[in-house]
Amino acid sequence: MLHTLQACIFDMDGIIVDTAEAHYQSWKKIAYSWGFEFSRAANQPLKGASRMHSLELLLEMLGVEKTNAEKEVICALKNDYYLASISELTKADVLPGVLNLLQELRSQSIKTALGSASRNAKRILQILELDHLFDAQVDGNDVHEGKPNPEVFQLAAARLHIAPERCLVIEDAAKGITAAKRAGMHTVGVGNPEELKGADLVLSTLEDMPWKSICTLLDKEGTETQAEREKLH
Ligand code: BG6
Ligand code: MG
Repeated sequence: MLHTLQACIFDMDGIIVDTAEAHYQSWKKIAYSWGFEFSRAANQPLKGASRMHSLELLLEMLGVEKTNAEKEVICALKNDYYLASISELTKADVLPGVLNLLQELRSQSIKTALGSASRNAKRILQILELDHLFDAQVDGNDVHEGKPNPEVFQLAAARLHIAPERCLVIEDAAKGITAAKRAGMHTVGVGNPEELKGADLVLSTLEDMPWKSICTLLDKEGTETQAEREKLH
């Protein structure tokens, strides 16, 4: 693995910075204004989904109907809540391990890309002062279909001129892992192994996780999975 990977594509919300929580809190506020509770567990399917898709999932879950015009207004309101809640974001909010990993990748000539569903992602990378560390940036403004469609990652790989099978995607959402798998890429999930079952490897954090360790663990997982498969036959 160490010798075959040529690019690493990072999801943003929940990987580079903990804005996944701000997305959740903003939807929770919307649901509350309609008289509903909205738990963290119920929020899981919204992770990685585009803004409009998230709203549609929420409406379905709550059994509420809205017109297309109303949905546009709700999405704008949700984004206002979201932007207000991240208005004090600074580079100190970059999650542990991310900066080291990005710098290490660049020093080893491994290409780096952003692959985010968020239409705010490029602006947030600038606020975090990380934008210069990415060779390509693809966000929700660049794609027609959101995750779990593979488009965001396919476009990132195309912009890097790297074949999908040479790319590793780092994601915190099940929808993102599915998208990366559909693109034919390797995957590392960061978070709860139960939620990220489809990933090649699941880590609890990127802290103290240099590139070499990630590749070693991916190789180990691959060997164990192969051994499991052989045992079953
Ligand atoms: C993803 C988040 O990264 O971006 C989702 O995981 C969010 O929760 C999506 O809905 C779209 O974000 P934005 O910033 O365009 O509303
Ligand atoms: Mg995410």
